[in-house]
Amino acid sequence: MIKKWWQDSIVYQIYPKSFQDSNGDGIGDIKGIIDRLDYLKDLGINVIWICPIYKSPMVDHGYDISNYYDIDPSFGNMDDMELLLKEAEKRDIKILMDLVINHTSDKHIWFQKALEDLDSKYADYYIIKEGKDGTPPNNWRSIFGGSAWERIGDTNKYYLHLFTKGQPDLNWENEELRNELYKMVNYWLKKGLAGFRIDAIAHIKKDFSYVNLPADAPDGLVGAWEYHRNVKGIEVFLDELNEKTFKIYGSMTVGETDVKEVDRLVDFIGENGCFSTVFDFCHTLYHVNDEEWKDKPVEMLKEIRDKLFEKQLGSVKYGFLSNFIENHDLPRAANRFIPEKEVGFYSESMLATMYFFLRGIPFIYQGQEIGMTDFPKKSIDEFLDLATHQNYKTYLGKGLTEEEALKRINVECREHSRTPLQWSDDENAGFTTGTPWFEINPNYKHINIKEQEDKENSLLTYYKRLIKLRKSKDYKEVLIYGDTIPIFEQYDGVIAYERRNEKQRILIINNCVNKSSTIKFKENIKNVLLNNYKEIILDKESLELRLYQSIVLEINN
Ligand code: GLC
Ligand code: CA
Repeated sequence: MIKKWWQDSIVYQIYPKSFQDSNGDGIGDIKGIIDRLDYLKDLGINVIWICPIYKSPMVDHGYDISNYYDIDPSFGNMDDMELLLKEAEKRDIKILMDLVINHTSDKHIWFQKALEDLDSKYADYYIIKEGKDGTPPNNWRSIFGGSAWERIGDTNKYYLHLFTKGQPDLNWENEELRNELYKMVNYWLKKGLAGFRIDAIAHIKKDFSYVNLPADAPDGLVGAWEYHRNVKGIEVFLDELNEKTFKIYGSMTVGETDVKEVDRLVDFIGENGCFSTVFDFCHTLYHVNDEEWKDKPVEMLKEIRDKLFEKQLGSVKYGFLSNFIENHDLPRAANRFIPEKEVGFYSESMLATMYFFLRGIPFIYQGQEIGMTDFPKKSIDEFLDLATHQNYKTYLGKGLTEEEALKRINVECREHSRTPLQWSDDENAGFTTGTPWFEINPNYKHINIKEQEDKENSLLTYYKRLIKLRKSKDYKEVLIYGDTIPIFEQYDGVIAYERRNEKQRILIINNCVNKSSTIKFKENIKNVLLNNYKEIILDKESLELRLYQSIVLEINN
């Protein structure tokens, strides 16, 4: 395997709107990020991924870009961005921006020109098709709900939008469009970006071989995933994108795509793949509060474990996955994986240990390192995200009462992870001196960074230990490149694995439930590298794991 600089990355994801406001307008901004670089340096991470900060009407919080070459004024300006790159470099921190190239905003000049003249070249930058007798070209559903097609004025033409109607899909079959995109990517790479997280990239290739498909719900529409996600032929686009941009700069690239069949990973993260790593969501789509898993944490964990290991083992021969438990599209991990009464230091440090040492690139989402939690709302009006409102409507359409629909939204909605970061117990959690754009979780009074900094037994300190271990001279080789071998699979509620190379053996053992577990254990321990409890209960034959105990052990080879 060829070694690359990004393989020892530990990435911190910033949701800029909610990270740190510097000018009192209630919206996080680039200057706010600069002000907090020392915090991130001290945490130990070495790469930051910033969600979109380009010019945008913010229909989807910046994932709808109206000008790729400009910064949205709510976040600052290009000088701020250049300063951020410089200040980050001083601290040996690299920056990834979000790259949204499956779609633009409907306010992007290309789309505006397309609308002005449906015969212009710009109309072919998008996917515009003829409707049939006043109905859309086909019955595909948008990923955010409702038809994926929007009629253009009173014409019989429709444009495709896999996300909101403010996000028209780009036509990747058009070579001129592709070259425009590559030019833009290189513009940013030249500025000194280390790379990109690449949004919704699985969807750039569409298969229109079917017009209508059998509906999968009462709305008459169909998800049609096989026709717009990782469609065969996508690798041709990805190769070209890589050749003309990332490869030239040796960039780090994080593709947002779960590749269902592991063998296809070769096209994505293989030696010649477009991406350094991909974000696979398969293990994250579980929730202890879903009807299916209520009171069955052990069964849920077993599925999560199987999914994780299947992907781990399947990906090794090709490359590196991204390891994560949180991001801006998911509710907080503690709420998803841990029954409410048991959320706390032990369960949260266990979750952290469980995923952090898997083979691949570890990601931490802002606030995860202090155990920020979901903030359920009393009314649907308190949510701001279009996708949330669309889901709510879908539930009502399926016959749920308003109360039931709100309850589901409160469990599964992605906005929970977007509340402002809790820096301190000062007013507005130290996030802003103004009125925050989104209500702050009132638990900031006791869950905040200041409270946990320099405290021996806080989650934040624990995260620093994880990061330090993963970066340490003595262990990084095995933790980055070593094999992953699932162990102790016969024990319910335990997720454990070994990382191993010719020289070293490291065991990562996590008891993911709130009852103790005794496992047969005869290994000869060389070093205890991490333990979220003070002690280890060990005798000649067995190891007793306490509730939510996690330990990382070096074993004599
Ligand atoms: C990705 C982003 C999500 C966004 C969507 C559309 O999934 O992570 O936040 O809404 O793409 O751009
Ligand atoms: Ca601001």
